[in-house]
Amino acid sequence: MSARLQVRNLRVAYDRNLAVSIEHLTVEPGTLAAVIGANGAGKSTLINAIANWSRAAPRLSGEILIDDRAVAGKPADLLARRGVVLVPEGRGVFMGLTVEENLRAGLSAVNAGGKTYSLADIYTLFPRLRERGTTPGGSLSGGERQMLAIGRALRMAPRLLLLDEPSIGLAPRLVSLLLETIRALVDGGLTVFLVEQNVHAAMAVADSLYLLERGRVVASGSVAAMRDDPRIIEAYLGARDG
Ligand SMILES: Nc1ncnc2c1ncn2[C@@H]1O[C@H](COP(=O)(O)OP(=O)(O)OP(=O)(O)O)[C@@H](O)[C@H]1O
Ligand SMILES: [Mg+2]
Repeated sequence: MSARLQVRNLRVAYDRNLAVSIEHLTVEPGTLAAVIGANGAGKSTLINAIANWSRAAPRLSGEILIDDRAVAGKPADLLARRGVVLVPEGRGVFMGLTVEENLRAGLSAVNAGGKTYSLADIYTLFPRLRERGTTPGGSLSGGERQMLAIGRALRMAPRLLLLDEPSIGLAPRLVSLLLETIRALVDGGLTVFLVEQNVHAAMAVADSLYLLERGRVVASGSVAAMRDDPRIIEAYLGARDG
């Protein structure tokens, strides 16, 4: 089986600022890969480049392959047909539509060719959304809005779900709940690529990890191997309380 996502010699630059320079990155089907890195490391630049979604239109070179087909720089509709669905930082939710309307609108947008999720499936995954079905997106809490953004993305039947910092701004208990739900989706066959500043949360659920520093991958491997990597321990795990 071919990799769901392959990135090769990818460079993304804003004017003369090279924000991302990655030689090699792979996500296998049915797995959860996480890119971890500090503020400004290039996480959003990378994930937005894969989805070719950016207001700033940075310069991009190199290869991005979905199921062995080149997609770098391709328009959004083609990426959607290849199954790439992005939940951007800041969350794609219609504030004026209710939760249920948001979830219905998600379906009509595209069908990306992956497994389909019914409204009932989404409500089973996120029972809170069912309770909030008639609430406008703009009145939801941060956690509810993130669940809704993911629910909307699932309605597009992604083959590769891209998540930019799903845990940001959420209370610790909600972070675990959300990431465990994402893990359950992966166990059900979904392929997920997420970027996170929250290293502990990402390591608790991911299969493979890439550590990004100043746009470059400085360590990568399975989560099991990375737990023992001195760079990870020094930078993140050593400082853990309790
Ligand atoms: N629109 C932009 N125009 C110019 N430079 C940008 C733009 N967006 C990001 N950058 C620069 O690219 C680099 C990577 O930023 P990026 O937003 O990708 O990091 P990040 O890892 O997502 O950070 P955060 O954790 O804060 O979301 C930074 O040096 C940043 O200043
Ligand atoms: Mg970011």
